[in-house]
Amino acid sequence: MRKAASRHLSVSGVSSGYDRADVLKQVSLDVRPGEVTCILGANGAGKSTLIRTILGLNRVRSGTIRFGTTNLDGLPPHRIVALGIGVVPEGNRVLPRMTVAENLEVGGLLDPDPGKVAERMEAMFAVFPRLRERRTQLAGTLSGGERSMLSIARGLMTDPELVVFDEPSLGLSPLFVSEVFGIVRRLKETGLTILLVEQNVRQTLDVADHGYVLSQGSVVASGETRALREDAELHKAYFGVH
Ligand SMILES: Nc1ncnc2c1ncn2[C@@H]1O[C@H](COP(=O)(O)OP(=O)(O)OP(=O)(O)O)[C@@H](O)[C@H]1O
Ligand SMILES: [Mg+2]
Repeated sequence: MRKAASRHLSVSGVSSGYDRADVLKQVSLDVRPGEVTCILGANGAGKSTLIRTILGLNRVRSGTIRFGTTNLDGLPPHRIVALGIGVVPEGNRVLPRMTVAENLEVGGLLDPDPGKVAERMEAMFAVFPRLRERRTQLAGTLSGGERSMLSIARGLMTDPELVVFDEPSLGLSPLFVSEVFGIVRRLKETGLTILLVEQNVRQTLDVADHGYVLSQGSVVASGETRALREDAELHKAYFGVH
């Protein structure tokens, strides 16, 4: 069993991008252990770029990212995952020509303790019974909702202390959206630290403890989700809700 989460993820003054111009501009945020922290923002605001930068897929151009006492700058993605950060990437990506079980095995390859893969897979099947039923089915033939569960389970195969979700409910029907939020809630109860990127504002603010709003690569609002929920100006300006 994993120890209780104890490490803070702290992003401080981080800029990064793809070509010459910075997409993220001096972004600072704190993901506290055992909490759900959410990032809200419109399409193109820089949410996935932020996640890519935390995971070492985009270089930090200025500022620092720390997980506990470890500075993540310059570490390759597999080292960052090995430190205890899991990821459920944008688009619920799975390996379509591999079975459900094989997808989970691949997810476990980066586990610093590969002997635990079978045990972890069992734990995932306990959380997602539907995946157990379909363990020999090719992932490419799963329904959209099942695929999102597989993608979440795969991200958890390394038994991370912190998991980063990039829009896990995107493209799902309302019933499955609620199911994904239910999963996030249950994972939070197990003590996992969660960084949740979503566009589903209301349900995200309901499950998260703290939130940040990104707009054009900058943090334009942040705070306890209770306060963000009641901020009518914020809703008008950034979420298109009146
Ligand atoms: N590989 C890339 N090369 C160049 N520019 C990119 C690349 N990926 C993203 N961008 C640009 O960076 C900006 C932020 O994109 P990003 O994917 O981080 O947004 P997002 O907030 O995740 O949006 P969405 O909600 O649509 O997923 C956009 O202007 C986008 O065009
Ligand atoms: Mg994105």
